[in-house]
Amino acid sequence: MTERMRHGASIGQPLTRRDGPAKVTGAARYSADFHPGGMLHAVMAVSAIARGRVTHLDVAAAKAHPGVVDVMSPENAPALAKSPDEKDNPFAFRLDLLQNGNVRYANQPIAVVIAETLEAATEGAALLNPRYEAETPSVELGGETIFTPDSVGAGSPTQEGSGDIEAGFASAGTRMEATYETAAQYHNALEPHTSVAQWDGDRLTLHTPTQALWIAKGRLAGLFGIPQENIHIVSHYLGGGFGSKGFISSPQILGIMAAKLVGRPVKLVTRREQMFGSVGHRAATRQTLKLGAKADGTLTALDHHTLTLTSRHDDFVEACGLIARHLYASEAIATTHAVSRADIGTPIFMRAPGEASGSVAVESALDELALQLDMDPLELRLKNYAEVEPITHRPFSSKALRECYAQGAERFGWSKRPRQPRQMRDENGLRVGWGMGTATYPAGMMQGEARATIRADGTALVETAAQDMGQGAWTVLAQIAADGIGLDGDRVELRIGDSDLPNGGLAGGSTGTATSGSAVHAATQGALAALEDLAVNDRASPLYGAGNAGTVAEGGRLARRDDPTRSESFSDILARAGKDSVEAKGTGAGDPASRKTYAMHAHGAVYAEVKVDPDLGQIRVTRLVGAFAAGRIVNPRLVRSQYYGGMIWGVSLALHEHAVLDTRSGRVMNPNLAEYHVPVNADVPSLEAILVEEHDPHVNPLGIKGVGEIGITGTAGAIANAVWHATGTRVRDFPITLDKLLG
Ligand code: MOS
Repeated sequence: MTERMRHGASIGQPLTRRDGPAKVTGAARYSADFHPGGMLHAVMAVSAIARGRVTHLDVAAAKAHPGVVDVMSPENAPALAKSPDEKDNPFAFRLDLLQNGNVRYANQPIAVVIAETLEAATEGAALLNPRYEAETPSVELGGETIFTPDSVGAGSPTQEGSGDIEAGFASAGTRMEATYETAAQYHNALEPHTSVAQWDGDRLTLHTPTQALWIAKGRLAGLFGIPQENIHIVSHYLGGGFGSKGFISSPQILGIMAAKLVGRPVKLVTRREQMFGSVGHRAATRQTLKLGAKADGTLTALDHHTLTLTSRHDDFVEACGLIARHLYASEAIATTHAVSRADIGTPIFMRAPGEASGSVAVESALDELALQLDMDPLELRLKNYAEVEPITHRPFSSKALRECYAQGAERFGWSKRPRQPRQMRDENGLRVGWGMGTATYPAGMMQGEARATIRADGTALVETAAQDMGQGAWTVLAQIAADGIGLDGDRVELRIGDSDLPNGGLAGGSTGTATSGSAVHAATQGALAALEDLAVNDRASPLYGAGNAGTVAEGGRLARRDDPTRSESFSDILARAGKDSVEAKGTGAGDPASRKTYAMHAHGAVYAEVKVDPDLGQIRVTRLVGAFAAGRIVNPRLVRSQYYGGMIWGVSLALHEHAVLDTRSGRVMNPNLAEYHVPVNADVPSLEAILVEEHDPHVNPLGIKGVGEIGITGTAGAIANAVWHATGTRVRDFPITLDKLLG
């Protein structure tokens, strides 16, 4: 038996990104950087109406333009083996692939122009001059019949609760009720959705950014009626994903169809304004929080109702209520969701889906309750600290939230916060406010596989179809592999981002490292076991007969556990056995029994300082301190980077991001990064993320929880609470902009 794992040699080191040099020198090739010989450029034309159908496209004018090769429209689009409305996965998009002339939302693809140059394709698309039969769209939250969905988020129950909520309110000395609204946010990763597609008969080679290579491969196989083995997807580097690249979207597939139509390789890059339609968004919500508490702050009732909207043709429902199911203890809890349909592109997972929007409402409400109770907001949260998961009463696999609260508060200086608002000003007369919020996100896992090969030259190869969308998979999987095998990281070759490799699971739902990392670890242990077998059964090996004592792998050698002076290098073992290598496959998946017994979540506490101009209402976040506990930290540098990214999105949710839909036309009125505001450096002056120690023996063998999404949760609420603390004005309509503050 080999050592299960060695601690700390590589795991836990703040290594810089392995892919960093390739990225900063431009050697890293993103999907759009691939140019197969004979490649054409495709540009989508998208709908200017939100509901109706296309009655005419001036295909002749587009085709007459020099350089235009063809125009793909419902007239000639390749037929598909499956309806694009058929789902092979309940969370996959229903797609818009030019199989008819219907328009279901603004910015829906209605044609694709294929040309020798990008300029010609762009011009051709402009010449199509579509005419429509338009119907009146409805895009408002609650504007159509409100109904109860079958499930929310990734298949969670629509309603869940515990205790007698009416009795909880009846016994409450203090009650509060408030309604919070969050705006629609549209997916805008720096790298837009792209395809570089090449067909060779019924074999497809595709460069496209995806967070889930195997899921994408499966969907494409179904749509095109070809075996999965015929599809090779390369996705080495992604310029962000955030959920919009979890499931393959219409633009990516239209590029593949265009390549099929013209019989040449085709590149299609979604234009920035086209991101506001078919690639998913975070739906607007209206959330009503009703809280009941005793005079000492003990919650007797916590009722969280979410109204959101989904597209007319699909089912994704933002699961805001999840957060209230596992965050605070309360005698009674009720969480419910309702939804109405609208003529919009289908909403989809967006970083911390459910929890991000849900958290801003819950954390604001707790703050409002604290004021009514005349309690410190942190004290109120500690008063209702959940020792076991509310509703299910399962123990937590680990939970260092108390330490997060304490370390964050200490670092921030929370104890100096005046209870009442409008008490602090800075030297320039700006109002200063402090607020806090709790962060939490589930520590989920998918199932993934990896293959590890130990080679006779003393190096190792580790392969898994994991995806690095910027979170650091290239680095942390190599760290896990290096420790698993007992080699220095520079002797470990890692291959990821290729659909021909073993299924590495999804880079999403904060499950990536837990899943593919566990698979990598398991594979390395398998490969070591194979190596050990060779040695301990060979009389010529110093390890002969070590079977019972076992061996330890370190520095490219296996040593007897009971006598480390007796050791042999990996190379010597393989050489004597006459082998070039040994390899093994490993699976990473949650243990179903543990996952039933324990509630698994990461936690954190975020403290925010804002300054508000008393005359102009201009809001600046001046300090953000987050303290997070998420099990074993594989790489503190990259984990911090994930927390910072999440926290910055919290700033965005609280103060910036807002897709404005014109209720008459159904169109997004600010489909560009000039008018659709996201925080820039000047909006985020000082960030701090504290890594709170936490050991989790249950989540997975390495004790890893995800870190990609938790940073948003807590942060947006903390900022909203700080704005109130600075001004005494409670804005419940997000983002909080200066007009709302002054109005
Ligand atoms: Mo995340 S929203 O699952 O990429």
